[in-house]
Amino acid sequence: MSYEDQAKFWEGYLQEPQVVSYVTDIQGGRVVGFVTGGPKLQGAEKYRGEITALYVRETFQRKGIGKKLMFLAVKALKDHNLRPIIIWALKESPYRVFYEKLGGTLVDETLRAFGDQKYPIVAYSWQNLDDLYKILLKEILARANSR
Ligand SMILES: CC(C)(COP(=O)(O)OP(=O)(O)OC[C@H]1O[C@@H](n2cnc3c(N)ncnc32)[C@H](O)[C@@H]1OP(=O)(O)O)[C@@H](O)C(=O)NCCC(=O)NCCS
Repeated sequence: MSYEDQAKFWEGYLQEPQVVSYVTDIQGGRVVGFVTGGPKLQGAEKYRGEITALYVRETFQRKGIGKKLMFLAVKALKDHNLRPIIIWALKESPYRVFYEKLGGTLVDETLRAFGDQKYPIVAYSWQNLDDLYKILLKEILARANSR
């Protein structure tokens, strides 16, 4: 997909009624982190929801922001009854550990085109969204209480 096609796709996607999007603080004119989720874009029929993007700027990572953003998206997907959910990550990504530590199960693998190149991507899922919600809440509270 070209940059223009991607921009057009995301513009339409973000306006869909069940799609949610949260953005953290903006510091120095730059967004620190964001998450989007909604009805599944890619994956087997049984998955109904998908977290489609989750990013935290590198210098702000490992401070609990990713879990807070994911918690907000999971809550919204739960409220829309979009479950089970799926999340795709680059197979080579060192950040896969984030999903593994939250109990995600590896459920799929395929190729996705980024520009002219295709890269392997893998999917994680949580059969029980209520469990993921509770895990995230526990992690967020534990961090808050340790301050
Ligand atoms: C994945 C990502 C969103 C996590 O954001 P974050 O703000 O760092 O997340 P949190 O601080 O809430 O949690 C990080 C958790 O990941 C795990 N983790 C991350 N790096 C780790 C490492 N090197 N070793 C062990 N565990 C690690 C830990 O469980 C860690 O929790 P802890 O710090 O309490 O031990 C962020 O790293 C990111 O944006 N990465 C680049 C983009 C990306 O890959 N996005 C996902 C693809 S869709």
